[in-house]
Amino acid sequence: MGGVVASAPGKLILFGEHFVVKGYRAIATSISLRARVRVEDTSGSWVELHSPTLGVRSRIPLDLSRSAGGELDVYVEILRALRKEGFSIVPHRVVVESEMPVAAGLGSSAATSVAYTLAYTTLLGSPLYGENLLRVSFEGERVAHGRPSGIDTTIAALGGTILYRRGEKPAPVSARIPEGYVFLVADTGLKRSTRDVVDYVLRVAEMMGEAGEQVYAVADKVVEKAVKALESGDMELLGNLMYFNHGLLVAVGASNLALDTIVDIARMRGALGAKLTGAGWGGCAVILARRGDVEVLRGELERHARMVKVINVNVPGATVENILSK
Ligand code: PMV
Repeated sequence: MGGVVASAPGKLILFGEHFVVKGYRAIATSISLRARVRVEDTSGSWVELHSPTLGVRSRIPLDLSRSAGGELDVYVEILRALRKEGFSIVPHRVVVESEMPVAAGLGSSAATSVAYTLAYTTLLGSPLYGENLLRVSFEGERVAHGRPSGIDTTIAALGGTILYRRGEKPAPVSARIPEGYVFLVADTGLKRSTRDVVDYVLRVAEMMGEAGEQVYAVADKVVEKAVKALESGDMELLGNLMYFNHGLLVAVGASNLALDTIVDIARMRGALGAKLTGAGWGGCAVILARRGDVEVLRGELERHARMVKVINVNVPGATVENILSK
């Protein structure tokens, strides 16, 4: 074999971000924007890493005794995790590309980690899928990125839609999005640190005392109703729950002017629902609309967002796209 191309989907948190930090439930779904990784056999004595998306390049020795530096370290950690599982480390070249904006809450990093793990293990002739793929990719992400929640890696590996609570195994949600409805993501283009927003929101919740607790409990009820709306394909209810969830995120201080503007425009232009997704203070908003309304909506949103894309949700997880012969 000369090489392998594998891909994995990004994710959207549809409901419950931030509230999930204090042990309440959240819903996340896979999206049709994917990270794609190509690995190729080489004759050298290195692992060569290149990410045109991030504009970085590095190479590391086969004994993995050196880190790659910065963003590329995660690939070294994945190789270390694979070595622990008995996989050999052979010379190869890695090229990573992502259709998602980075650091915008769409799970680009986890998707590339999962796609790389699948591509490399396929190159070796023992592809990892499902829970095994998830375990090794998450180990790499965990060491390289501190304490990720695991939502992004789960979605990238397994695809579909999940109901998630910290410390518990995610439960699949059988989401049904009827014909004629679409989701859009709008990227504010504003970068932020998830950690900073999470700390701020926790401080706000703490300050509000019992009132704060009640907002968290209400958010959990919203998640419960949203599972039912997704499973029954009730898009009108789902949309209203999105607006409602956005309001709760505003209450705890996770939104900002750019996100509120997108949500307000969506509401004025007849979208069924909209909310910020992920940490907030920038990053992306997600909008649910009737297909017939998309063009007008997109035109309007593009005046206020750096990127607007129509996406499918609830798509399949990691997959091998292409086997390249020598
Ligand atoms: O923006 P993201 O994808 O990093 O999502 C953050 C989600 C939070 O609930 C705000 C934090 C977390 O760890 O769950």
